[in-house]
Amino acid sequence: MPIMDHFSLIAPYYDRAIPFQNAEPLLTHVSPEPGHRLLDVGGGTGRVAQGFVGRVAQVCVLDPSVGMLAQSRRKGICITQGESEWLPFGAEVFDRIIVIDAFHHLLDQKAAARELMRVLACGGRLVIEEPDIAHWGVRLVAVAEKLLLMRSHFCPPRAIQAVFQGLGARARVARQGHTAWVIVDKGWEMARTIGPRGDKG
Ligand SMILES: C[S@@+](CC[C@H](N)C(=O)[O-])C[C@H]1O[C@@H](n2cnc3c(N)ncnc32)[C@H](O)[C@@H]1O
Repeated sequence: MPIMDHFSLIAPYYDRAIPFQNAEPLLTHVSPEPGHRLLDVGGGTGRVAQGFVGRVAQVCVLDPSVGMLAQSRRKGICITQGESEWLPFGAEVFDRIIVIDAFHHLLDQKAAARELMRVLACGGRLVIEEPDIAHWGVRLVAVAEKLLLMRSHFCPPRAIQAVFQGLGARARVARQGHTAWVIVDKGWEMARTIGPRGDKG
């Protein structure tokens, strides 16, 4: 069963089953400003993105799941159907990108990393929030997702950090409880260094 079918099945109940709590650390890491254009990749129902509406100029949710996107649309959020490995946007158009509880669902995480850096503006920031696989409770979730054939692949935050550092970005890791954030800053020296599909150019 493709991953988007799993999420479409649970989409109508998602926000009630997994309410987004403790938004403060995310807001601190993202550091949104009124003029920013923000993209939520794998943003699903818009559960997290809705917290940025009114704080920034533009909020867009990208997700492959039609069912999840339908919930975002009901919240009045701009939606785009697509996958992180092939983002349907031009280069350097978003000031902030968030990937919340979704990076472990991406089938080709390296291709997605290149695409995320391509569409991120110079001086912009990408924040990836993931359950920290160092915690045994998260490891149980990882096993459960395997049993549900969800094809998820949890990486240690330091490994995600290394992928972005390998692309030339500044990246650091923050942790709180069982949550980790990889905070990636795209410097001006990276202007247009990553072409379509991540080709150097
Ligand atoms: C656990 S949900 C998290 C949704 C949302 N970020 C949140 O925190 O409420 C994971 C999301 O990743 C999406 N997803 C799966 N594969 C993806 C891909 N290749 N590109 C972008 N999103 C993907 C799923 O459709 C799903 O909506």
